[in-house]
Amino acid sequence: MDRHLPRVPPETASRGRSLATRVALAFVLLAVATALNAQAILEGERHHPVTGRNGMVVTSHDLATDAALTVLKSGGNAVDAAVTAGFVLAVVQPRSGNIGGGGFMLVAPGDGGPVEAIDYREKAPAAATATMFQDENGNVVTNRSRFTHLASGVPGTVAGLALALERFGTLSLSDALAPAIELAREGFVVPPRFTEGLEQAQERLHRWPASLATFYRADGSAWQPGERFRQPDLAATLQRIANHGTAGFYQGETARLIVEEMQRHGGLITAADLANYQPAVRKPVRGSYRGYEVLSMSPPSSGGTHIIQILNILEDYPLAELGHNSAATVHYMAEAMKLAYADRSKFLGDTDFVEVPLDGLLSKSYAGELRKGIDADRARPASEIQPGAPGGYESPETTHYSIVDRWGNAVSNTYTINFSYGSGITVAGAGFLLNNEMDDFSAKPGEPNAFGLIGGEANKVEPGKRMLSSMSPTIVRKGDRNFLVTGSPGGSRIITTTLQVILNVIDHNMNIQSAVSAPRMHHQWLPDAIFIEQGFSPDTIRLLEDRGHSVRTTNAMGAIQSILIGEDGTLSGGADPRRSTSSARGY
Ligand code: GLY
Repeated sequence: MDRHLPRVPPETASRGRSLATRVALAFVLLAVATALNAQAILEGERHHPVTGRNGMVVTSHDLATDAALTVLKSGGNAVDAAVTAGFVLAVVQPRSGNIGGGGFMLVAPGDGGPVEAIDYREKAPAAATATMFQDENGNVVTNRSRFTHLASGVPGTVAGLALALERFGTLSLSDALAPAIELAREGFVVPPRFTEGLEQAQERLHRWPASLATFYRADGSAWQPGERFRQPDLAATLQRIANHGTAGFYQGETARLIVEEMQRHGGLITAADLANYQPAVRKPVRGSYRGYEVLSMSPPSSGGTHIIQILNILEDYPLAELGHNSAATVHYMAEAMKLAYADRSKFLGDTDFVEVPLDGLLSKSYAGELRKGIDADRARPASEIQPGAPGGYESPETTHYSIVDRWGNAVSNTYTINFSYGSGITVAGAGFLLNNEMDDFSAKPGEPNAFGLIGGEANKVEPGKRMLSSMSPTIVRKGDRNFLVTGSPGGSRIITTTLQVILNVIDHNMNIQSAVSAPRMHHQWLPDAIFIEQGFSPDTIRLLEDRGHSVRTTNAMGAIQSILIGEDGTLSGGADPRRSTSSARGY
C-alpha cells in the first residue's frame, strides 16, 4: 500500500531527466562554493541555528549535507535527499556511514499524513544460534560477537534506502547513488576527523588485509588531512547497485564476494541469507508530551519506546520551573531513566519474534505507577530497582541525519555498523566494512553487551531475528504540523540524548542549536551512575551527590542532528558541534 509524499509538481516531474541533469550540475557548482565557503559556514553554524525557508539538511558530514541539499534545491523531496545522503556517508564516513550495516528511517509527510517507519535493521543469519557467543561452559566469549565474521548480521542498508525511494522518492536509485559513486571513484579530500578515526582504529583494521588495503596508504599509515582518498572497489560495488537495483548487492558479484569472505573466515552469512533479506515497514511508537505528539522508532529498537516512557514519567514535574540541568531536574531525569532502562533489560526485543508489552510501557498510567517510587530528595540505588510490570553501548559511532523539504516533509534517519568501523572487516574486493551488530543481541541473558547494556531472553539470538537497538529517529508534531526532527548516535545514550533535545526545546524553550549543544547527562540503571559531559557546575554535582547519586564526568555523548520547524514554516537547523564534520545547511 504505497503512500507518496507530495511529488515534484507535474511540470517539473515531466522533466524527470532534467532533474537528474540539474542535480549533477548543481553538484559541480556546489563543490566549488563549498570549497570557498566551508570554513565560514562552519564557524557560523557552531553558534546559531542555520535557517532556511525551502529546505534544511543536518548531517554529520559536510559532503553528505551538500549532496542532500543539492537534491532538495533541484526539486527532489526529503526522501530523495535522505537516500542520497545515506549513500554519500557510506563513502565519506566509513566509521559509521555504511552499506554493510542497517538502520531505521522515519518519514513524516508535511501534510500531516501518517508517519511511516522503515526498518532496515540487520538480521541474524539462518545458521545463528542462541549460544553462538558462548564457550562450551556457557561463558560469553566477548570478542566473538565484536571482531570476527560471526559478528555480522545480514546487512539491511541497501534494501532499506531502496525501499524508501520506491515508496516516497522521485529520483531513480541510480541518480540517488550518483554523487556517492563519484566521491568513491574520484575521491575526496580527507578532513582531520577522517585521519584521526583511522589512526585510532589502526590496530583493529590492520588485522584484515582488505581493510588495510582499502583504508590506509601503501605503507600502512592513515591518509592525511588534505590528501585525496579514493575507493575504486566501493565505487564498483555502488555501481552494481545503480545498474541492477538491490539485486546488485544481495545477488550477483557483491553477494558472491560477501559469501566468499564469510566462507574464508568461518562466518555464517550465506547467499540465501542475502537473497532473503527484506526491510520492514512499521508503525512508529506514538506518545504525547505537554501537548506535542512524539513519534519514534518502534521495536526492534528500544529507543522510541523508552523516550516516550521517560517523557511520560517526567511530564508531571515542572522541569521548566526547576531549570535546565539544575540538580532537581537532573535528579528526576536520572530516576526516570533508571526505571526505563531496567524495563529495557527485560521486555524489549524484535516484535516479529517476541511479545513486547508496548501498550503498557507507553501508557501514562504505567508511568504514573513508576513515578510513585521516585523520591524528590533521594536517589534510589539501582539494586532497589527491577524491571516493572507494564500491562550498546556501542559505539558512539552510529550516525544520524535530519532533512526537511519545501513541502514540509521530514525524514529522520539513523543507521550504523555498531562500533566505529563495525567489525573492522572489509569485504575483500567489495570495499565496504561489515557491521558487528550481533553484539546487540544478548550473548547470554543477563550479561552486558559492549556498552554495559543488559539484555534478556527477549533479545536472545535467533535465526532471522533483528537484534535490539537503541536508535531513535524521532519526529515531534504539533497538531498536523511537523515540529522537531531529531536523532543521534551514541549506543544506549541515543535514548537520553534524543530525550534531552526534546526537553530542551519544549520545556526549556531553547533554540535548536542551543538545544543540541547544551551539556548532556545520562543514566542507564546499570552501571548505577549519572554520566555528565563537561559543563555542569560543581554546585549541581554536589547537590546530586547529596541526594545519593554517583556522578561521573565522561566524554561527549551523542551527535544529535536536528531541525525545528517554526509556525511560519521557517526551518532552523542545529548541527552537533561534538562532531567536527557536522553541518546544517538550508536555503
Ligand atoms: N548498535 C547500536 C544500536 O543499534 O543501538
